[in-house]
Amino acid sequence: MSNFYQAEVLSVHHWTDRLFSFTTTRESSFRYQSGQFAMIGLDVDGKPLMRAYSMVSPHYEEQLEFLSIKVPDGPLTSRLQNIKVGDSILVGRKASGTLLSQNLLPGKRLYLLGTGTGLAPFMSIIRDPDIYEKFEQVILMHGCRQVSELAYQQRIMDELPKDDFLGELIGTQLIYYPTVTREPFENQGRIPDLLTSDSFYEKIGAPPMSMQDDRFMLCGSPAMLKDTVQVLETRGLTEGNMSHPGHYVIERAFVDK
Ligand code: A2P
Repeated sequence: MSNFYQAEVLSVHHWTDRLFSFTTTRESSFRYQSGQFAMIGLDVDGKPLMRAYSMVSPHYEEQLEFLSIKVPDGPLTSRLQNIKVGDSILVGRKASGTLLSQNLLPGKRLYLLGTGTGLAPFMSIIRDPDIYEKFEQVILMHGCRQVSELAYQQRIMDELPKDDFLGELIGTQLIYYPTVTREPFENQGRIPDLLTSDSFYEKIGAPPMSMQDDRFMLCGSPAMLKDTVQVLETRGLTEGNMSHPGHYVIERAFVDK
């Protein structure tokens, strides 16, 4: 059996000239946990061209959803951005990834820190009811250059709180904090700077960062990961993995081409 299967594109949404998302069919044997990624791609000159993409869709959804940047000369995204409904894409049969709550020590608050398409795995996690059993509060921070890049804002703010299944959990336990760096917006600034600012914690109504109570998941560009880890490590927080749960986890599989 091949390592990939053909999934059919069911919808495509272009958020900006740099960002798009799409949904595909899902093979019933393809299983994943919220926060994981799969290899997806296209057949190019008879060879699979694959990159790691986090699933935006929660693990129980029938369709798969992905969020992607568009890089004009990127080997995959320059092609992927042209997909249309009815086209086929390749999806790897195995999901993996480190953004799993079992890699974290127990805590009260879970901060989900994403920049750009780094939001993707967190869209899946905030729709997993289990996360609200493990943490009293889930704080989703999404950092973008421009307001138009705050993908899924309407879904998070308007649709999810009204969802029959998740609405109550999301309404009471999820705090969404979108932040923009290159134009005016109600919240501004880069994530590592916000994490060290008292006014940020005041704004969300949470106490300043605590090693005892706060846990973090990070997904973004290498520079964002480096600067955010520095803030966390300065406060004594340690990275978790399968064998040693810690205070934070990082997703390093990030598509930038
Ligand atoms: P900035 O506008 O100040 O560069 P990108 O689209 O380049 O991936 O950026 C997405 C978001 O991540 C932007 O808001 C950008 O801010 C921010 N960003 C870039 N570098 C860092 C970093 N080292 N730490 C935190 N956020 C960053």
